[in-house]
Amino acid sequence: MRLGHWLMVGGFCLAWLTAESETFRLVHVISGAIVLGVATFRLPWGFIGSRYARFSEFVRGPTAVKDYLSSILKLEPAHHVGHNPAGSWAIVILLGLGILTSLAGWAIYNDIGGHLLEELHEGLATSMLIVVLIHLAGVFSGSLLHGENLVRAMLTGVKNGLPEEAIASARPLAAVLLLVWVAAAGWFIAN
Ligand code: HEM
Repeated sequence: MRLGHWLMVGGFCLAWLTAESETFRLVHVISGAIVLGVATFRLPWGFIGSRYARFSEFVRGPTAVKDYLSSILKLEPAHHVGHNPAGSWAIVILLGLGILTSLAGWAIYNDIGGHLLEELHEGLATSMLIVVLIHLAGVFSGSLLHGENLVRAMLTGVKNGLPEEAIASARPLAAVLLLVWVAAAGWFIAN
């Protein structure tokens, strides 16, 4: 999950940086393929992955989101070892937008869809940027409110919690499969 996250951050940033460039068109296409590869790997991983990676563990309905947000307003934020109920919606939307934006880009690269699809691709990418900014606001405000550095946690995999809330180990084999999948997506899309 952590490897996928930082690959997605790299792919997303690189795609934005190269969006207008003819010279770096292939880099742009491969960046989109990285986002697509990570997001499509993350979907099944959300069902079979480790405890805090599962959608059933963190995707909650509007009541849970409201309760979490009101706990923040009361300055008594409920702590979650996995993703919190409000942040979880940004995550789901980012994965969905990541897939749609990259698929639209792939179609354009193959001369499908014309000008309309180009507009859609740009609109999706801009929506994604807006959700990323909301996501970052959530990450940094959550870090301050909980006194817990979430960026470090996303790098190390270590969060505050009880021993029974921990997962036994990282999943190195899944990380290797993810790399193979992302490389395959890059090769397939660029060719
Ligand atoms: C430097 C910028 C970024 C930082 C510091 C950052 C930080 C984080 C952190 C700390 C989490 C875990 C939140 C939690 O504990 O609930 C997280 C989750 C997530 N972030 Fe980011 N993020 C960044 C950029 C992005 C971008 C650009 C995307 C997508 C394009 C993204 C997509 C996600 C997703 C999908 C998750 C959920 C991970 C998963 O469950 O697989 N993030 N991010």
